Amino acid sequence: MEIGHAAVAITRLQDYCPPAYLVDSVALDVDIRDGVTTVTSSLSLRRNPASADATVMTFNGEGLLLRTLALDDVVLDSDRYHYENGLLTVEGLPEACTLTSVVDIEPEKNTALEGLYQSNGMYCTQCEAEGFRHITFFPDRPDVLARFTTTVRADKARYPLLLSNGNPVAWGEEEEGGSGRHWVTWEDPFPKPCYLFALVAGDLACLEDTFMTVSGRKVALRLYAEHRDLDKLDHAMASLKNAMRWDEQVYGREYDLDIYMIVAVSHFNMGAMENKGLNIFNTSCVLAHPSTTTDAGFQRVESVVAHEYFHNWSGNRVTCRDWFQLSLKEGFTVFRDQQFSADMNSAAVQRVENVDFLVNHQFPEDQGPMAHAVRPEEYQKIDNFYTLTIYEKGAEIVRMQYHLLGAENFRKATDHYFEANDGKAVTCDDFVASMEAVSGRDLGQFKRWYSQAGTPVLTVTDEYREGQYHLTFRQHTPATPGQEDKQPLVIPIRLALLDDQGAPCALDANGQGEQVIIVDQAQETVSFAVPEGVTPSLLRGFSAPVVLDYDYTQAQLARLLAYDSDGYCRWNAAQRLYFAALDRLVVEPGEADAEAAALVPVLEQVIARSDEDPAQAALLLTLPSEVALGDRHTPLNPASIHLAHRAMKRALGKALQSHWLSLAENLLATELSMDGRAMGRRQLRNLALDFLAAGEHDEAAGLAVELFELPLCMSEELGALKVLVHHDLPGADQALAQFAERWQDEALVMDQWFAVQATVPGEQTVDRVNGLLEHPAFDWKTPNRVRALVGTFTNGNPSAFHAESGAGYRLFAQALSRLDAINPQVAARLANGAARLPRLEPQRRERLAEVLADVQKNSSGNVAEVLGRILSS
Ligand code: TRP
Ligand code: ZN
Repeated sequence: MEIGHAAVAITRLQDYCPPAYLVDSVALDVDIRDGVTTVTSSLSLRRNPASADATVMTFNGEGLLLRTLALDDVVLDSDRYHYENGLLTVEGLPEACTLTSVVDIEPEKNTALEGLYQSNGMYCTQCEAEGFRHITFFPDRPDVLARFTTTVRADKARYPLLLSNGNPVAWGEEEEGGSGRHWVTWEDPFPKPCYLFALVAGDLACLEDTFMTVSGRKVALRLYAEHRDLDKLDHAMASLKNAMRWDEQVYGREYDLDIYMIVAVSHFNMGAMENKGLNIFNTSCVLAHPSTTTDAGFQRVESVVAHEYFHNWSGNRVTCRDWFQLSLKEGFTVFRDQQFSADMNSAAVQRVENVDFLVNHQFPEDQGPMAHAVRPEEYQKIDNFYTLTIYEKGAEIVRMQYHLLGAENFRKATDHYFEANDGKAVTCDDFVASMEAVSGRDLGQFKRWYSQAGTPVLTVTDEYREGQYHLTFRQHTPATPGQEDKQPLVIPIRLALLDDQGAPCALDANGQGEQVIIVDQAQETVSFAVPEGVTPSLLRGFSAPVVLDYDYTQAQLARLLAYDSDGYCRWNAAQRLYFAALDRLVVEPGEADAEAAALVPVLEQVIARSDEDPAQAALLLTLPSEVALGDRHTPLNPASIHLAHRAMKRALGKALQSHWLSLAENLLATELSMDGRAMGRRQLRNLALDFLAAGEHDEAAGLAVELFELPLCMSEELGALKVLVHHDLPGADQALAQFAERWQDEALVMDQWFAVQATVPGEQTVDRVNGLLEHPAFDWKTPNRVRALVGTFTNGNPSAFHAESGAGYRLFAQALSRLDAINPQVAARLANGAARLPRLEPQRRERLAEVLADVQKNSSGNVAEVLGRILSS
């Protein structure tokens, strides 16, 4: 880890140069022994015809103990090379040669979880983005694609399973006097960048299945986990098979190796990793069982399994030229996994969930100190750029292209993209070029979406004049750090105009009720021959990632919520109704009952129809979060936001209490089902129970305890626990104790136990979290556990994090420093929790800035970059 940076290196897109040498193939030998692993690597190098650089080549290597370095089997004198600051420079290389290095590394001491490390006794790797340089010397950049052959050696009894990418081609026992050691050699026929390298050594259980590809090749599917978790792999297997079939049918993409493996590990910096043929997953994204996993957890497993599988084409076969192109694989792959989830589940619900996530998490990122373009111009630590902007906004940019081209042309364009770029490392421009080539469209201006940071605000005004309805669109993108001037973007606006019965008016001679307007100027007006008094249904399906500013009346919103056929617009109407009421309550908290009363008729309609689609009803009935409400008020005083939010919830709890009670009682299932409808009913029921408790209904505690005692699945059990604990109902402490007792050996369930407690609203939770940091089950070295306690506290509990005393900030700062010394990547992610600093009211802003400045002094490069941006804004 780098401590106390004087000058931080900045990497710039404009400085891109092709590598001086290419690596045709690499033979790795990884000899795992307790305490020290020895890695021998032989790189077949060839001068890159596309490079101007002469005979000097640099290789990345971090923390490697170099034992020997040989060129074409001749050991190099130390004056022929230079290893310093993470770079090995070798001079006087011939046109083609083999460079062999032997290095020692210490995976047991690797708490940063990048490179080779240990997790619960097994060895595993994480190489994206720049972890491979912690394993051996290599040009660690995604545009160097090599054929890998990997031999893994370890003790056979403790590590019976030795895995790497591709196919096993040879194996055996090491002779040397019955050492008990064995080895396996794996060969990956597909050239790949080193960030896709993976290796696993352990004693794992396997769920095995097969998949017959569309062309009739049989693929072995193997999911590995600790033995105790073997019964939690079925859902991931089913999801994988669905994803494989879906990618064949929807994108014409077939799997290309004979084996596809997924390994579940408990210690993992992010969700999962798409290593070629050998995905490595955070246990939280692969293990699922109804008794231990919530319904949301099941959905997450399905989408992450699919996401990593889809990377086999969008990321692996066609990869990124440099890390500025990260969204090329991530944005596209998120779009693909969103399409997949929409096809597997309710498409309308999926879309709303995706948009909800984007507007409540990516929009704030885009409006804060961390704002950056989907294709940034520069970075300090690439790990800090695995952001919601790259992933989620990137997916929206692909989605807009999908809609601009239409499904059929989009498919032709992706075929073109995969065929033209197979086996290559390319750029976002290459992706758009395929869209242009197939459609004949000029997407030049559209590409500003990639380079321009910030969320555009689309202001819409309307008037009825001379028998026509005129809509005027104005777009404006606020300045972001380092990007003052913004250009107009191409904004597709899908719209309908609803009459006073809520029916769509005919917009043209063909009677079309929906139209897409493409706004590409700062201001534009369009006109429609429709009767007076229409309600505009704008941005249907959330057709562009913009903030829509239109001055809806309450009556118009009620109409959209009741009648709009577009799921997103209905949900958005509900959000606007809630926000309008909440905004007023921030100023006048005493008016909660009146505000709730005004909402009752519209919400009663939603409840009356809830049986049509319980999941959608649950989304429509969920209040915006306290954090989302706070994002509308500057300067931000989290205490008054909290009061308003709580008052609203309580008032709605009371005003609709008979409905909440009957939903809570009537949605009770008698047997377990995991289908979408059953999940939706559970979601709605948990929501009803929560409102019932918020409204202080006498039966809330009894119903929650009842559900908690005899749950059919974890969604019920956890939903009940949350209601008991968050509303401090009788029986809450006992339930917490019982839950911990029941689930102490299930790490992922215990994560939920920590998270429930970290998100109890109110300042007193700071003490509670401080206490939990000392709990025997808390562990700084397990990212999932740290996120469950400290991450949820920071990001999901504003009334405690922003406690007036500053105690929440001190907790945060101490946690940050402590974690940074162990795992800088995860610490830097946690540091993002302070990104709202510039918007805080002055007293809190100063307090938070003060503790952060202190943390920054001794921080890693990762944390320093994030805090630097936040503190200088
Ligand atoms: N490429 C992975 C994905 O989105 C994510 C990833 C990037 C990652 N870097 C990582 C995962 C580091 C774990 C650790 O699919
Ligand atoms: Zn990804």
